[in-house]
Amino acid sequence: MNGNQTLTMIKPIAVERNYVGPIIQKITDAGFIIRAMKLLQLSKNQAGDFYGEHRGKYFYEDLTTFMSSGPIVAMILEKENAVADFRKLIGATDPVEAEEGTIRKLYAESKSHNAVHGSDSDESAKRESDFFFSAVERF
Ligand code: TYD
Ligand code: MG
Repeated sequence: MNGNQTLTMIKPIAVERNYVGPIIQKITDAGFIIRAMKLLQLSKNQAGDFYGEHRGKYFYEDLTTFMSSGPIVAMILEKENAVADFRKLIGATDPVEAEEGTIRKLYAESKSHNAVHGSDSDESAKRESDFFFSAVERF
């Protein structure tokens, strides 16, 4: 990973509500190129591994239950300054605090059901991309 990629998930509630199309449109309008994409459902253990950094926190149980509750869309996105620019595009973790026009402001239900994930560093982007995609599934 060269620092120009990030990993996103469209979370179960946003898939359920048919927000996949509008969310991808916002992402590509912002200049990101899709380098990998799949629809899948995580097991609770897989969700727990993905969010391992949060193990022990008060929201971990609800988070892993929610993230394994239905299908998600995982994508590797490419753009210069991908990690920081994508975090800006999605907005704050809590949609109440997210700026107008951000994906979480538009499509999140709440802090815990906040529509999308975005990697928080280049190291996380690499780990999270390897979690979902094999070498022949990414470009
Ligand atoms: P975190 O990594 O802190 O946020 P972000 O997704 O913005 O990087 O937390 C991971 C997810 O855990 C977050 O998207 C939603 C959930 N969460 C809660 O449900 N309650 C909380 O208080 C926090 C901090 C996170
Ligand atoms: Mg995070």
